[in-house]
Amino acid sequence: MGGFALYKKGNKMNLKGKDFIDIEDFTKEDLSELIDLAQVLKKKVKNNETIDICKNKTLLLYFEKPSLRTRLSFETGITKLGGNPLFITKEEIDPGKRESIEDTSRVMSKMVDALAIRTFAHSTLEKFAQYSSVPVINALTDKSHPCQIMADILTIKEHFGSLKDKKLAYVGDGNNILHSLLTGCSLFGINISAATPKGYGAEEETIKLAEKFAQSSNSSVEILTDPIEAVKNADIVYTDTWTSMGREAEAKIRKTIFKDYQLNENLLKNASKNHIVMHCLPAHKGEEIDFDTFEKHSDTLFNQAENRRYAQMAIMAAIM
Ligand code: CP
Ligand code: NVA
Repeated sequence: MGGFALYKKGNKMNLKGKDFIDIEDFTKEDLSELIDLAQVLKKKVKNNETIDICKNKTLLLYFEKPSLRTRLSFETGITKLGGNPLFITKEEIDPGKRESIEDTSRVMSKMVDALAIRTFAHSTLEKFAQYSSVPVINALTDKSHPCQIMADILTIKEHFGSLKDKKLAYVGDGNNILHSLLTGCSLFGINISAATPKGYGAEEETIKLAEKFAQSSNSSVEILTDPIEAVKNADIVYTDTWTSMGREAEAKIRKTIFKDYQLNENLLKNASKNHIVMHCLPAHKGEEIDFDTFEKHSDTLFNQAENRRYAQMAIMAAIM
């Protein structure tokens, strides 16, 4: 059991040494304990309390794509836990070219206590994890972004007090964020409706998994193309960029294909009266969300960004 046991009596999770690759690798109970721990840690950080759960431990961040939130939240998060971060990019070490991924991972894990990795192919992350002797955290791949979704669940729980009987509508591209939302919401028992243009939906495998989780948690998964139908009575309306990192060449055509999938006043009229708007950020105002909607919901949006730190502190505290 990690040092976090000191911070919450009676928790049962024992995730020490485990990788954090995908939401579906965990039970609802473990994920709920992580969310509870994130809330405890957030309070401690706000009170300026010293936390030493990861004292003298080093987190290595290896990123193949740009990042603001993920990098900052991991770096400041591990520092708040008493440890220290190291950041390294593909340009510096070029795994697979300068040295094999297998050897890169084995060297990294001789020097540090955990790896946070952002890659294009999910298989690259999996290979790092296969050869690492220390826990590996998914800091975003083309397939999924589980750390983001843990922060999102925390944000929803903070706002509504509970996750029970909530509906989340996702409008936009069937990307890494939607994949992790599908598994995350269905595991936690949040009803999810996703509207994506034809041909831009989530992977079938992830939809099937979410449907299975939803059966156990007594919630629903709706896969649609009509944004109005998806947003109907939603408590949370979520969007993400139409063009994910690595797909920049498709940006122009996507602007045309996705034009009816913008979060704006007109679409949000269909949501529940007290809905909140979420976005993992970075946002492209005038595309997936209009300027006024973004500003109206900016408190939630930037709290959501801040919560990355506490969700990831909980994950690091548990596995390192
Ligand atoms: N939401 C998110 O992961 O942001 P970054 O790409 O800036 O890390
Ligand atoms: N879907 C986006 C998420 C960014 C945090 C991307 O992969 O670029």
